[in-house]
Amino acid sequence: MQTTVQSSFHTPAQETSSFLDLCARRQSCRSFSDQPIDHNTLVAVAEAARLAPSACNSQPWSFVLVESPEKVAEAARCGQAMGINGFLNDAKAILLILEQPARLMPQIGGLLDSQYFAAGDIGGAALAACLAAEDHGVGSCIIGLFDRPKLRELLDLPDWQPIAYYIALGYPKNPVVRPKARKALAELVKFV
Ligand SMILES: Cc1cc2nc3c(=O)[nH]c(=O)nc-3n(C[C@H](O)[C@H](O)[C@H](O)COP(=O)(O)O)c2cc1C
Repeated sequence: MQTTVQSSFHTPAQETSSFLDLCARRQSCRSFSDQPIDHNTLVAVAEAARLAPSACNSQPWSFVLVESPEKVAEAARCGQAMGINGFLNDAKAILLILEQPARLMPQIGGLLDSQYFAAGDIGGAALAACLAAEDHGVGSCIIGLFDRPKLRELLDLPDWQPIAYYIALGYPKNPVVRPKARKALAELVKFV
């Protein structure tokens, strides 16, 4: 069952939660205004991603922030495979998260039942970046389908370099927060 979460909500335990409000305000933005994004705002977005947690603090990532209008226009075309995501033409910056080899601490890594945490770690960094953008009033949209070989060529990245996330950024043309369709908390959480 889906429930609707409004942009601002209150929990009984806490009258207001600015962090929950930020989480509720973040939404995929598919219509960007003409307003450019200041370089320092993009630095803050990258900084939030840099601070994300990772297995054994392996930090299996690096970031490319595409901000020059010419490169953004070309990177936008790489996100429009199969004619979708036309709104990328109006993106003002694109954050790419590159997966880098994770070096887990051998003494801990050997005890873990899985050695591969990088995808989850990078997902956390991506969300941190989107929330930081929202905190600055900048809209974001994660793009799943994009032309990785073309993007690598555009940005002079080696052929082997995995590009894990493509996140379009720009100020929203329409700042209205849509209701969120999400499964009900009771369906998802078991308090024991
Ligand atoms: C890995 C991933 C890939 C996505 N790819 C696209 C995409 O190609 N185009 C798009 O418009 N939205 C894309 N989205 C956004 C999702 O559709 C969106 O996050 C989801 O519907 C929830 O809506 P919200 O972000 O507004 O809360 C993607 C999201 C994720 C996490």
